[in-house]
Amino acid sequence: MTTKRLILAPLRGFTDAVFRNAFQRHFQGVDEAVAPFVTSIKGRRIKPSHLRDLAPADNRAMSVVPQILSNNPDEFLCLANTLFDLGYREINWNLGCPFPMVAKKKRGSGLLPHPDSIDRMLEKTLHGFSGNLSIKTRLGRFSGDEMDRLIPVFNRYPLARVIVHPRTGVQMYTGRVDLEAFDICLTQISHPVVYNGDISDLAMFQLLESRFPSSSGWMLGRGLIANPFLPEMIQSATRIICHRNTRFKKFHDDLVDGYRRQFSGPGHVLDRMKGFWFYFAANFPDGRRIVKRIRKADSLDRYRHAVTAVFDGQDRWG
Ligand SMILES: Cc1cc2nc3c(=O)[nH]c(=O)nc-3n(C[C@H](O)[C@H](O)[C@H](O)COP(=O)(O)O)c2cc1C
Repeated sequence: MTTKRLILAPLRGFTDAVFRNAFQRHFQGVDEAVAPFVTSIKGRRIKPSHLRDLAPADNRAMSVVPQILSNNPDEFLCLANTLFDLGYREINWNLGCPFPMVAKKKRGSGLLPHPDSIDRMLEKTLHGFSGNLSIKTRLGRFSGDEMDRLIPVFNRYPLARVIVHPRTGVQMYTGRVDLEAFDICLTQISHPVVYNGDISDLAMFQLLESRFPSSSGWMLGRGLIANPFLPEMIQSATRIICHRNTRFKKFHDDLVDGYRRQFSGPGHVLDRMKGFWFYFAANFPDGRRIVKRIRKADSLDRYRHAVTAVFDGQDRWG
């Protein structure tokens, strides 16, 4: 079995430490995760609660790379060095977040039309940080042409790798991934390049792998949440996975237990689990109806009831 480097994508509100640990207990095939972003903050003191998801004791199951959302080199360095002191050797800089509230403040994908600001930021941060820095980027904020000015900037600095999600910021998560533009990134970026975007089944992965054999890794987000068996399928190049329904149910129950320990009230657990079903439902034959039923649950007991009906009934997984 050849091993492909598979990386769990950061999805805020989904791929936190509870998810990462539960995933590792029940599934195989993922090498590491980039954690959802933490924002840099003014001032020198960073409260432990700001970094709760990255507490080393809760992140032993899987190799984790923290991600920072920032456009301020001093704040970035303060946070990056705090994370370095906690034991993290690579920090990822978020240059992809598409949300207008973030982008308008020149953060995430909002920085992409400003390669000079990115240049200054890299110059300053790499000077004061002794760990490895990687970047997760889109093709641009408004247009893929922005990459023409970004790639020379990326190539001037010793980055550990560049993860490319080949959409623009204004595309958000819709429309086509631009594989021609990814091809250009792969050829022109002088650092290891990781592909990210729309890997939702084995066929899509195999198509991408044969087209981009020099990609240094593959990052999976929504496709992995919807189908956590996907990394095993990719690693073993088969769609046949035994005991899916039972294994998925155990994973699900483990998630609920994890969030019950983490959150103070059942309402938060319920909200979080309802969020997951938006993705989980894709792999159940009658997913829409299931989501409707689960959304109606107004207590954890009712939620459990609805979910048991899914796992025991006709709508079983896969
Ligand atoms: C709900 C949600 C939250 C996300 N949070 C982050 C984040 O914190 N940091 C980041 O770099 N990307 C974030 N992303 C983008 C994903 O990491 C990934 O780039 C995107 O979903 C495309 O990959 P996929 O098609 O495999 O999901 C988020 C995406 C979604 C849908």
